[in-house]
Amino acid sequence: MQSANHSQKGKWPDESKSEITIMMLASDANPKGYVYAGVILKYVDLIAGLVAKRHAGHSNVVTASIDRMTFLKPVYIGNALILSARLNYVKRSSMEVEVTVEAENLDTGERDLTGTALVTTVALEHGKPIEVNPLILKGDEDKKRFHEGESRMINRLKEAGRISR
Ligand SMILES: CC(C)(COP(=O)(O)OP(=O)(O)OC[C@H]1O[C@@H](n2cnc3c(N)ncnc32)[C@H](O)[C@@H]1OP(=O)(O)O)[C@@H](O)C(=O)NCCC(=O)NCCS
Repeated sequence: MQSANHSQKGKWPDESKSEITIMMLASDANPKGYVYAGVILKYVDLIAGLVAKRHAGHSNVVTASIDRMTFLKPVYIGNALILSARLNYVKRSSMEVEVTVEAENLDTGERDLTGTALVTTVALEHGKPIEVNPLILKGDEDKKRFHEGESRMINRLKEAGRISR
């Protein structure tokens, strides 16, 4: 991981990005061996909170919304569930975290993309939203993600009736 550039205020997306891998067990799945969507969503929420907390530091991070998520392929008992997450966009107290979900067949090493999710988290202090570190954008990819995240956030807030259409 790259170290922080402390001469600039803010943090790079690379400083908070995270990956977790969990073996799926019988308790995670239905009787036919398909992992429940709710189990996957739990880990999506967990890793998004972890990334946001890494970025925000000393504050309580909560999930404000999760955009529509499609489950592209089944995940089975015995698969490794691999979640990767990074920050796309930071507004003031709110942050958009993109989560990618893959399933690995541990017998063959084959990996499938099974879903992606966009999670909005909000940093709180004493229960009130608090401004977090700005996001330092390193290159074109970071800038593209930021601008796309910004447009999605505007749409999200319109849909939630928080800003006028
Ligand atoms: C999310 C929450 C803190 C927002 O509180 P609020 O009183 O509406 O606060 P504000 O209007 O000041 O909004 C705070 C920020 O949240 C953002 N926000 C609020 N609702 C949002 C939504 N539905 N989607 C995206 N962003 C949202 C606002 O745009 C604002 O962002 P900004 O500071 O970057 O400009 C509040 O709704 C809450 O506590 N919800 C429950 C969270 C929770 O318990 N999650 C599950 C457990 S982690």
